[in-house]
Amino acid sequence: MITDAVIEGDKVVLVPYRNEHVEKYHQWMSDPRLLKLTASEPLTLGEEYEMQKKWREDPDKLTFIILAVERKGDPSDYPMVGDVNLFLKGHPSDEDFEAEVEIMIAGTDYRRQGLAVEALRLMLTYATGLPSAFMCPPLSRSVPPPPKPLPIPPQSLVARVAQDNRPSISLFEKLQFSAVRVVHVFGEVEMRFGGGGVPIYDK
Ligand SMILES: CC(C)(COP(=O)(O)OP(=O)(O)OC[C@H]1O[C@@H](n2cnc3c(N)ncnc32)[C@H](O)[C@@H]1OP(=O)(O)O)[C@@H](O)C(=O)NCCC(=O)NCCS
Repeated sequence: MITDAVIEGDKVVLVPYRNEHVEKYHQWMSDPRLLKLTASEPLTLGEEYEMQKKWREDPDKLTFIILAVERKGDPSDYPMVGDVNLFLKGHPSDEDFEAEVEIMIAGTDYRRQGLAVEALRLMLTYATGLPSAFMCPPLSRSVPPPPKPLPIPPQSLVARVAQDNRPSISLFEKLQFSAVRVVHVFGEVEMRFGGGGVPIYDK
């Protein structure tokens, strides 16, 4: 999904995933622990450039790079610390439409400072147009409206997280997602915004 939106929060700034971010992103994704936690496949640098193009251009994908705000220095020097993505499955008018959310704060030095929760609040506000649903102040008027088929209904948001990824489960719970299904064969919990609670257990 092509967007030039730059979304500023107190702790993070979200910027579109561009060519210049790919090398660093590729370094992160060479770490087997991050590959496992994000359920990603290892890619060559060339494939990572191809993937960046797809994430930028495919109408069903939206991705932002997360920069950490630093008190000193120019915003153009803020360090790149992670990414936040949305992957649309179907069209918002479809009955079974869903939008899968993913997030990563790659550097362990930047974790546990509230960056992921703020990045998700900003991204989900942008994608749904509903700041109050995510306890987020309204986005600045300088942020352009999201491209079609956004905005999407918040009840279509889903996160699929490894069953043993406590930090991530707890992060999504903080944003009012709850487990609706546990798929034991994949070792995965499916969480939905406003989920409603009692998980269904698959074999
Ligand atoms: C999960 C992840 C994104 C959290 O990022 P973070 O910036 O450290 O998270 P935040 O500081 O914003 O924490 C927000 C909430 O998440 C939960 N959380 C985050 N890290 C946690 C941890 N290590 N243990 C338990 N809960 C944790 C807590 O509920 C926390 O709220 P609190 O600080 O009030 O307790 C980060 O650990 C990460 O990138 N992990 C690897 C990739 C991954 O697992 N991605 C998820 C797949 S969708």
